[in-house]
Amino acid sequence: MIYLDNSATTLIKPKNVISAVNEALIHYSANPGRSGHSASIRCALKIEETREKLVKHFGLSLPQNVIFTANCTTALNMAIFGYLKKGDHVIATENEHNSVLRPLEALKKEGIIDYDIAFQSSPIGISLEDIKPLIRKNTAMIITNHISNVNGAKANIKEIGQFCKQNNILYLVDSAQSCGHEHINMEEDGINLLAFAGHKGFYAPLAIGGLLINTEKPIKPLLYGGTGTNSLELFQPSSLPERLESGTISSPLILGLNAGVDFVTEHFDEIKYKLDDLTTYLNFELDKLGFQVYTEPENANGVIAFNIEDIDSSEIATILNEKYGICVRGGYHCAPLKHKALKTLGQGAVRVSLSYFNTFSDIQRLIMALKNMKNKVFKIKN
Ligand code: ALA
Repeated sequence: MIYLDNSATTLIKPKNVISAVNEALIHYSANPGRSGHSASIRCALKIEETREKLVKHFGLSLPQNVIFTANCTTALNMAIFGYLKKGDHVIATENEHNSVLRPLEALKKEGIIDYDIAFQSSPIGISLEDIKPLIRKNTAMIITNHISNVNGAKANIKEIGQFCKQNNILYLVDSAQSCGHEHINMEEDGINLLAFAGHKGFYAPLAIGGLLINTEKPIKPLLYGGTGTNSLELFQPSSLPERLESGTISSPLILGLNAGVDFVTEHFDEIKYKLDDLTTYLNFELDKLGFQVYTEPENANGVIAFNIEDIDSSEIATILNEKYGICVRGGYHCAPLKHKALKTLGQGAVRVSLSYFNTFSDIQRLIMALKNMKNKVFKIKN
């Protein structure tokens, strides 16, 4: 089997991640934030170490500003529902995933906020120029997807972040498809809130993600409950991370993430070059086959989308899976505005998404399969 669906989740995990999860199940499975015994403290120290690695990786300094969540969706919801209040205006982009669009729409339906969508004037990605005309006096938050999960379009987060900083607007970045292989320095880039997916670019197990917070503005919790602190009080503590981490957190998943951050730190340049090379090669070959490619060659970041004439993208994904043992994603990718912008509302798009563990031979086999499908299955003449 050839696995090319790494934007959904990375399937192959580094050895150190697998060992860390095993070790956590054996040695670090006491409840890290409860009780005061040595088993609990030993586990809590490892959790703390993971927060330290993450703040270092993303250019912040306070480990307590890392909030562990089940996934990037929870982190985005936490930021959106936590900071927005009645009368606020938000700007998001055509690249947003439903994990941003649906919370915004829900808040709008309730009459709490209003929002506008910025569209790309360049096929490369969203820039500040696309956002600026939408700014209002009450714009409280700008949200940009860093790298589109549909076609790899890349937002210029640094210029948007600087603008937000100068104008006291909260900047929330969805790094689900960029964390682990794109340089992100929250302080230098002017990012207040960063949602990440540990199980994608950090090669951690499924169901671990987080929110990094770089603002002193108060946040309303998404969940209320036990935090292991201030246990006699009925109100939620104000200190981070407890304020936002009610309920037991998962040490096996977090320690898997800890090892994933080590892996990415050690191989960062190698990962980046590999994704760049493989995406560039694939883009070139898809274009040679005469397919409609929706990814700009400049966006060589591991996500590439295409279609073959007007054939349903799900049909192509099914044939690749059943006849050639190649896993890609067809159909729609939970980003309806992006499909509208790419004019793929009718047939969706075939998405190939790569990881460090893919090889040139994987891409060659995909190209051979697609050539075969073009000539023998669909009998398309050049
Ligand atoms: N959002 C993930 C994807 O793009 C699941 O496939």
